[in-house]
Amino acid sequence: MLKLLIKNGTVITANETYKADIGVTDEHISHIVEPGGLDNLAAEKVIDAEGKYIMPGFIEPHMHVKAPFSGTIDILDFYSASKCGAFGGVTTFMDFSTTTQDTPVMQAVAERIEEMSEAALDYSVHPKFIKASDHLREDIKKLVADGVPTFKMFTIYPGVMIPDEDILKIMEIAKEEGALCGFHAESNDIAQFLKNKLLSGGKTDWEYFNEAKPNICEAEAVNRILSFAELLDAPVYFYHLSTKEAVELVRQAKKRGVKVQAETCGHYLVFTRNENKGKDGINYLMSPPLRSQEDQDALWEGINDGTLSLVTSDNEIFTRKIKEKDLETDPVTGEKIPNFATPVNGIPGLEERFGLLMRGVNAGKISLNKLVEVGSTNPAKVFGCYPEKGCLAVGSDADIIIVDPEKVMSLTQKNMHYTEDGSLDYDIYKDMESKGWPVYTIRRGEILVEDGKFYGKDHTGKFLKCHLN
Ligand code: URP
Ligand code: ZN
Repeated sequence: MLKLLIKNGTVITANETYKADIGVTDEHISHIVEPGGLDNLAAEKVIDAEGKYIMPGFIEPHMHVKAPFSGTIDILDFYSASKCGAFGGVTTFMDFSTTTQDTPVMQAVAERIEEMSEAALDYSVHPKFIKASDHLREDIKKLVADGVPTFKMFTIYPGVMIPDEDILKIMEIAKEEGALCGFHAESNDIAQFLKNKLLSGGKTDWEYFNEAKPNICEAEAVNRILSFAELLDAPVYFYHLSTKEAVELVRQAKKRGVKVQAETCGHYLVFTRNENKGKDGINYLMSPPLRSQEDQDALWEGINDGTLSLVTSDNEIFTRKIKEKDLETDPVTGEKIPNFATPVNGIPGLEERFGLLMRGVNAGKISLNKLVEVGSTNPAKVFGCYPEKGCLAVGSDADIIIVDPEKVMSLTQKNMHYTEDGSLDYDIYKDMESKGWPVYTIRRGEILVEDGKFYGKDHTGKFLKCHLN
């Protein structure tokens, strides 16, 4: 008896498109056959997917939930994030350990795994390193053995940024022990220097945020990390690349044989820095900042030629009220006075990511197969859970989304699920629609979303032991 039979759908994988019926037994895909090929088997539930796309569940490997940042904290927990993710086609997500000077990486990883256990999606953790300890090799060996081999380091943000020498130490041991170092790459010194210069010159409006972190701020840090990777012949990963310069640096490094992989995020593919102009510019503050149209075009090109292999969300949601909390108020108008350096950075995207990519498909920028590749298959491959996740294959986890190509979803906050009542107090994707939207989200054979309703239960997600190689 099948647990689930999905009939008549068009299967879209990273490299193929074909009609098939899919059978699910327990938590796994047990059959992928020609349409009608499973008609002799009984199934607990049958879904007719005629006219629909069947894709592997999306994987969100870059998000920040319950993540203290700039003296405040974002609004989601891992159960509410599961719901938003599931509506946006996500079946697995990954977050970062909250490593601090007082909470060493090993403890922070254990705490994050415990926090993530409330999830309804399957989950994994990227250990964040803020220094190289005296027992680095033991720590890294244990992290790899525990299934959390994908690390993150920051080259910016005093408090979490890590000295270059420590990066080299971690990179070398990570390479030897089968781990991957990922980077938030922006130059702290360039950003500090320019921020202070702009502020002291009275240039405080939102639009100056980009000038405080211009393209070269990202490129310098990317170039530095690539040099370290080349020196040590160590693999590296870049989170959220946003500039044409960084794309070109990665492209050239790959050509030289550097083992580098990189992502961009949905927001860099749909917005430009023009959004930072005016009083709502605060709503579009994230790091790295939004860029020019030329940069955006280079990102799409990088996706298409494989320089960028993932598109993630970097979701970290603060209400506008939280973003504005430390701004001064104009005594005459009562309005908040813009200061690009004050608000906490971060935006939504976990639920919208599928739609942002689908817009790329509908605009002819990428194929449907590419959408699957950058949203599901490559995240699984890069972060070590393929082929358990990230593909539609017999034996893989039955993480499946069924997409109605005709369903038009406005990405306004009223349709998203970040808050119970859709009341997130700003709405950056409101003018965007996605033609094509997941109507079923299935995680390990369990239906999480059907007919616009969420059926996921807390504490039903599974911790994924990831491994590279
Ligand atoms: O602005 C962003 N991206 N916030 C999340 C934390 C980070 O810098 O990645
Ligand atoms: Zn980052």
